[in-house]
This record gives sequence, structure tokens and C-alpha cells, in this order.
Amino acid sequence: MNKETGEVYKFPKKFMWGAATSAIQVEGNVINSDWWEWEQAVQPVNFRSGLACDHYNRFREDFELAKELGLNAQRIGIEWSRIEPEEGKFDQTEIDHYREVVETIKSLGMSVCLTLHHFSNPSWFAKKGGWHNLKSPYYFERFVSTVVPAYKDYVDLWITINEPTVYIGSVYIDRVFPGSQKSTTNLLKTYFNFVRAHRKAYRAIHEDNPNAKVGIANNVSSFDVFHHHVLREILREWISDTASNHLFYKLSGKTHDFLGINYYMHHYIDYKRPTDWTKIVDVKDIKEVSDLGWEINPEGMFDVLTDLSDYGLPIYITENGIATKNDERRVRFLISYLLNIYHAISAGADVRGYFHWTLLDNMELHRGYDPKFGLIEVDFKTLKRTPKPSSYVYRDIAKRNGIDHKLLKLLGHGVDVSEVLGSTDEH
Ligand code: BGC
Repeated sequence: MNKETGEVYKFPKKFMWGAATSAIQVEGNVINSDWWEWEQAVQPVNFRSGLACDHYNRFREDFELAKELGLNAQRIGIEWSRIEPEEGKFDQTEIDHYREVVETIKSLGMSVCLTLHHFSNPSWFAKKGGWHNLKSPYYFERFVSTVVPAYKDYVDLWITINEPTVYIGSVYIDRVFPGSQKSTTNLLKTYFNFVRAHRKAYRAIHEDNPNAKVGIANNVSSFDVFHHHVLREILREWISDTASNHLFYKLSGKTHDFLGINYYMHHYIDYKRPTDWTKIVDVKDIKEVSDLGWEINPEGMFDVLTDLSDYGLPIYITENGIATKNDERRVRFLISYLLNIYHAISAGADVRGYFHWTLLDNMELHRGYDPKFGLIEVDFKTLKRTPKPSSYVYRDIAKRNGIDHKLLKLLGHGVDVSEVLGSTDEH
């Protein structure tokens, strides 16, 4: 422990402290996308993105706020459907808009992590069958090659595709996203097309920019068995872990300069429940869960990081966060998950950055505006932004590049952030 500062948990030098967003969830009026079309057709009015956070027009204000929170990096998404609203026709005004966005982040002294695909597609692309069309990787590559020259001087980390498995699960299994359908053939085609698209995009970015750092944001879950002596639980654990966390890397080979990890989920596997051979247990009545029923399991963060450090690549946590209307819970979440990242680093994982999901309360995909993931509250009537106490805790951590001993008090219940940090304005 450093006696002078009281810091116990110091992170590596140049660690990126950021927050993540995606275009459809914050920008507003993404009218040329399949997401928008689908919302008008099937979503209740108050679930539609509409103006969202109006981040498209207010990005400066938002990044200035992020800067005030002591963040030194931002993960953002660019919206393909704005840049290529019609097949093969690229809109220079939109390309310039996003250049202004990345320039702004850079001019505030923050690093840029840029996502090229985060769930939404241009309508024309969806009409051609979307991601199960065999030509989809080619369309994506054409878009990527067009935008790379415009942004390459500003981008520190490129994410080609956000959560291929979540997209696939949401379209073909849960059927809650645009393009939903029941088709195992199309599900498999989409998986392989994402792999091909990533490989093509990886090469396209490197062609123009040999030193670029390119990866995906992979939704990684941690799995555990209820009974460590029951072989079929262990087998199910292995299969789930491989399919969810490793398969994409195995299929896409050496086209990852880093691993981008979105960590939200921990799952228990049990064989005793009345079902085929094993079952993922619903823990909402057993353990602490978020407003979306997702288990709070900070140790799972340690487990996935030590597991994935086997690849020998730098790791960035490209998303991690909690849906809660109770910000005290976000504070405990933040500190306990970051402590586990610290421990994973101590165990040898080369973790270089953390992007909290998310900067602003936003449109939580098909679930609308009710779930609150933001460090900053947005009043959706006035669009006023108000930082929550958790953002001051995050600021303290980012500014010190570590978790101060005194913050551990906040792991207790009913402890006020201002009791620990003093007046939040002093920081
Ligand atoms: C996605 C985000 C989403 C978050 C919370 C991640 O799977 O990348 O777009 O808002 O989870 O559901």
C-alpha cells in the first residue's frame, strides 16, 4: 500500500478508463436503419429510439462531461446506415460528421475505441437478407474500406463487430431484434459470415494502417456447475464456455490484435432440474441480480480474464455494467468488478483498459428506456444530463489510476458516496 496516497489497488500505467456507447442507443433518428424500420412496425411507441439522447447533436457536451469525469478514453459506434444509406452510395456529410466526433474526443485528450458494427444495419442491407446473405461480408468490407482512411489518424482501437453471438441469439433464438426468424441454417450462415466479415475488415484496416489495433467486442460469460462431481454438468460447462467465449477466436485465427471483452453474465449449470440433460439455472430468486435479472458475479470477471489471458493478447474490457435504478448498487458493482480486474492483472492477465457500459442512460435495445445502465442520468423529456454519484466514484478511480482504500467502504450497504469522497465537486 502506498502510504502517501492510501492507494491499495494500482492499475498498470496508461490504463484506459472509459465508457462505451453505441449509435442506435444514444444518437436518435437513425432513420435509414433496419432497427428504425422494425421499431415503427413492432415496438410500442415508448420503446422506440426516437430522439434517444440526441447524442448525434450533443456529442460535444457528452464527451466534455466524460472528460470532467476524468476518463481518458471513449468507446463509440459509427452508424453504417447513415454513412451508406443506399447501397454503394456513401454520404460524405455523415463521414465528416463522425470525423468531427473522433476529432472532438481526441482534442479532449482521450483515446478512441471505434465500433464499426453494433447491432443495427442499413435497411437496404437487411432487405438483401442481412447477415445470412453470403455477400454480407463483402458489403461490410466495402463500408469499412471507405471509412478507414477518414478515421485512421484518430482511432486507437478498432472493433469490427460487437457481440456476434448476442446478435445471433437475439435474431434467431430469442427473436427480439429486427430480422427475427426461426432458421438454424440462417443462424449458422450468419455466424460464419460474421467470421468472414471480421477477417475481411481486419485486413482492410491493416492494409491502410499496418499498426492498427483491431479486434471484436466479444460477449463473454462465466460458467459454473452446481455439482463439481457430476460429469454432464462439467461437459455442459465446457461446451457453453467454448461456444460462447472461444469459438469465434478459433474460427477467425490470427486476426485479433487484442481481445475486447464484454462481461455481464455468469451462469450456473445444474443437472437436477426437470429437463433434458442439464439446465442453466435461473438465479433471480437465489442470488443478487440486476433489474434485468442478471446475476451479480464479480468473481466471474476474474475467471474469464484469467481464462482468456491464455491467448497472450492484450485485453480490453469493452463493456461491463449494471441495469439498476439504485445508483448505490452501481457503486458496489463498479468497485467489486474492478477489484476482480485488478486481481486478474495480478494473476498475469494483460488488461489494458476498461470501458463502463454506459456513459448515458439510453435506449436499452428492444427493452426500451426503463433499464438504467448510465453513469449519467438523462431526463428524456428535457434531455438534461446529470452525473450520478457512481460517476464520481469512477472519476476518483480513473484519476488515481487505482482504487483508493477508502472506496472499499462503499462496498458496504447504505454508505453515502459523499461521506467517502467528500463533496463530489471537489474532485
Ligand atoms: C450490448 C449493449 C447493451 C448491453 C446491455 C451488450 O450486450 O453490446 O448494446 O446495451 O449489453 O444489455
